[in-house]
Amino acid sequence: MLFGMASLAQTISIIPQPVSLVQQKGTFIIDKNTCIQYNRLNKAASEAGAFLNRYLNDISGSRLRENVHSQKVIQFSIAPTSDIGKEGYLLKVSPEKITITANDKAGLMNGIQTLLQQLPGIRTNAALAVPCMEVKDYPRFKWRGMHLDVSRHFFSPELIKEYIDLMARYKMNVFHWHLVDDQGWRIEIKKYPELNNTGSWRVDRLDRVWGERPQAMEGEPATYGGYYTQAQVKEIVAYAAERNITIVPEIEMPGHVASAIASYPWLSCNRRPQQPLTGVDYKDITSNYCAGNDSVFAFLQDVLCEVIQLFPSTYIHVGGDEVEKDPWKKCTRCQARMKKEGLKDEAELQSYFMKRIEKFLAGKKRKMIGWDEILEGGLAPGAAVMSWRGEQGGIEAAKMQHDVVMTPGSPCYFDHYQAGPEGEPLAIGGMNTLKQVYDYDPLPKELNEQQATYIMGAQANLWTEYISANEQVEYMVLPRMLALSEVLWSKKDGKDWLGFNERLKPSYRYFDQKGYHYCKGDFKAQIIPVAKNGKLTAEIATEQPDATIRYTTDGSEPDAGSKKYESALSIDSSMTIKAITVIQGKVMSFKPAVQKFVLHKAVGHDVVYTNAVSKYYMADGNNSLIDGVRGTSDHHKYWHGFCGKDLIATLDLGSMKTVHKLSLGCLQAYKDWIFFPKRVRFEVSADGVNFRDAGMVENSIPITESAKLIRDFEVKFEKRKIRYVRVTATVQDSCPIGHPGAGQPAWLFADELIVE
Ligand code: ACM
Ligand code: ZN
Repeated sequence: MLFGMASLAQTISIIPQPVSLVQQKGTFIIDKNTCIQYNRLNKAASEAGAFLNRYLNDISGSRLRENVHSQKVIQFSIAPTSDIGKEGYLLKVSPEKITITANDKAGLMNGIQTLLQQLPGIRTNAALAVPCMEVKDYPRFKWRGMHLDVSRHFFSPELIKEYIDLMARYKMNVFHWHLVDDQGWRIEIKKYPELNNTGSWRVDRLDRVWGERPQAMEGEPATYGGYYTQAQVKEIVAYAAERNITIVPEIEMPGHVASAIASYPWLSCNRRPQQPLTGVDYKDITSNYCAGNDSVFAFLQDVLCEVIQLFPSTYIHVGGDEVEKDPWKKCTRCQARMKKEGLKDEAELQSYFMKRIEKFLAGKKRKMIGWDEILEGGLAPGAAVMSWRGEQGGIEAAKMQHDVVMTPGSPCYFDHYQAGPEGEPLAIGGMNTLKQVYDYDPLPKELNEQQATYIMGAQANLWTEYISANEQVEYMVLPRMLALSEVLWSKKDGKDWLGFNERLKPSYRYFDQKGYHYCKGDFKAQIIPVAKNGKLTAEIATEQPDATIRYTTDGSEPDAGSKKYESALSIDSSMTIKAITVIQGKVMSFKPAVQKFVLHKAVGHDVVYTNAVSKYYMADGNNSLIDGVRGTSDHHKYWHGFCGKDLIATLDLGSMKTVHKLSLGCLQAYKDWIFFPKRVRFEVSADGVNFRDAGMVENSIPITESAKLIRDFEVKFEKRKIRYVRVTATVQDSCPIGHPGAGQPAWLFADELIVE
């Protein structure tokens, strides 16, 4: 087997996986005899050649000669080439020659990135050896985006360039730069200097986590922040363009602009002075532009004129998300505008606002893009939609023949955890694992072929409320961006999770060389209860292909020597399973996965609710309350939720049974608006009609207790024969004073009604 894999110097790993890759025998060694060739008259080829030479200089300490005769050449050409379209390339590597051919500069740059993935990331003494191959490659989607919020925390131009370099390496091509938000205005606007003098700076509260930062007090110096000067922006835009990355600036409006209002209070409805926000304490803070004041539109047009001059991007992002309508309801100018324009509500007022801006942008030959809220009250004619609240907005917009970028919270919000959360840096919450990103497909099934053409692609968003350090930016993006790059570039039918994990390894070596922080895998074990044919089993899984699972069932802590998981475990008695992942003998889990099972007399029977369970918290269906599976601190799983309503459940044991103990498991999770019930009352019956009191338990934990707690509300009594049990858990009146939801309905969560 002459050309068998065993005879090849190294297996080629490329992310994203090319459309077609044929590895061949031999290598091309880049050394001082190598020359770079391109047609000097062709700008794209010249720039690509120069780019490669600079990179080679960085990793080898010397430049190659250009356009001289040599036996060994790296050749760039722009030539009409069918099948590869925009951004595609052909790469051929033989021992004497490397050629990269494309229809455009973007294609040449993508070919270079494939080549660079075969080389070290830093200067080493190793030979620069490129394995021989033939690659034909082109992208599946044209919008392969990464977003970065620089308002909540500010990042230096150097970090922005690093982000761009990482994007380019994996053929991502749109950088969505979130430059404006409540907590900081981050782009220099020459006509309105207060945006930068005032709006870019806030009182430093870096010693507190985001959600607990008190507002600025009178006289405290505003020392945290910064902004990008127009000169810096120009340099970064050029840096990105050289790497085939378009920067789409986001200038938020009409909400999320407390920083602009701090700079110029007349921009708001109430015109009250305010200080830039330090976090999420919005008390007496105004975040909206006044939609009834023409001077606001004049201001925004001035701002956009400066922005347009800096950014060649066709799309200009204008935000549009999460606009609080209250200030507009109270504003005489806004109400007068609604009356004059015949707008029936404040949603239509927002639509009026966005349409007016869209018209202005269209006049400048630019297209507007905004978050999916811009659909509400009527979508502006030429606007593109970025779907973040799930995919529904994107589906709706595509059906209306508007361009769409998919960025649903799950799995595209890279501010969520990816492997823990225990052991990971503190994040805003949620969980989007590498595999969830890898498994994503941006084309919703709801769209037909024609409608699907409006889906331009997808992007990941990195909101930075909980991210203040460069290392953490790297960690949140790596390696999830690589999975997204493969989703957006590679063929859908070529998806290969195990292969992708293999191909990640050289990228990890590259990150190590560069000193980038990254998440080294998803080291969680997941315990999945499975009820089938009246039998309960537990499967244990991990998304990390190289890991084995070790577990215990006696409550002890598992270690690398614990029992190895082979197949589903039978749950035939009450037990607590604890499981970890182990790679090459090393315990990788930050913390064991824990799942408690209780086998009791009600398991397998039926329960009827008086008030319906919230459709958002159905757990595993109606009988979740008596399935033997205990809830964990993750309230999205195995818990039934009731919003502002009592839990009243009646259980039929099927026949008379001897019972001496009843309990209901409940959750308190203050931050998630979930509180223990005021009290839990149990009643029992032989006939299902006449119920007798069996005891009541009052809650003793304060409603303001913020620690997450699970508690069984339990009553014991002399053994009795009964058939029916009714439990009534009384919900708290409302979220308490001082809580973000003060006065709003409280949630009540229960996982199991245990009958013994
Ligand atoms: C968003 O996450 N508010 C777009
Ligand atoms: Zn107003």
